[in-house]
Amino acid sequence: MLRIRVLHGPNLNLLGSREPSLYGTLSLEAIDSAITKLAIELAVKVDLRQSNSEGELVTWVQEAREEYDGIIINPAAYTHTSIAIRDAIAAVGLPTIEVHLSNIYQREEFRHRSYISGVSIGQISGLGATGYLLALRGLHDHLAASKGRKSTSAQAASRRAIKGTTS
Ligand code: DQA
Repeated sequence: MLRIRVLHGPNLNLLGSREPSLYGTLSLEAIDSAITKLAIELAVKVDLRQSNSEGELVTWVQEAREEYDGIIINPAAYTHTSIAIRDAIAAVGLPTIEVHLSNIYQREEFRHRSYISGVSIGQISGLGATGYLLALRGLHDHLAASKGRKSTSAQAASRRAIKGTTS
């Protein structure tokens, strides 16, 4: 079973009441239950967490190396400031998808730069809560395809070993 850690950054605990014209009216709890429902459908184990603290997010990214196959993260304001979260994602090397509820490229100039996108396999921005569901499907497909590739090459290697050839 694939395992994915979903991380929500600062102020996302206020979703539902926080600037609804930008971030929508769904609470974080409602978004998390939609993610959980889709995860059950896809047979993926998800672990969902929110923190207002950069250090805690860094720790959760680091810990994911042990138990998870990939990460979905909305780093919120840390997207635009956090080299520490970027470095943690690069260090663990897990496939990561970055999500933003709002379209950060239609907003203030300072939101146009993401420190996270350079270490992510993809970014979804501007599709509201649906962005998390697309990220979950996308990461699931990405991980399933890479597992498939790994088992195909492992099978080929064992066939070569049985035949005593190297290529
Ligand atoms: C956000 C966009 C960020 O610029 C902002 O700081 C957030 C939320 C989004 O989901 O649209 O807190 O990541």
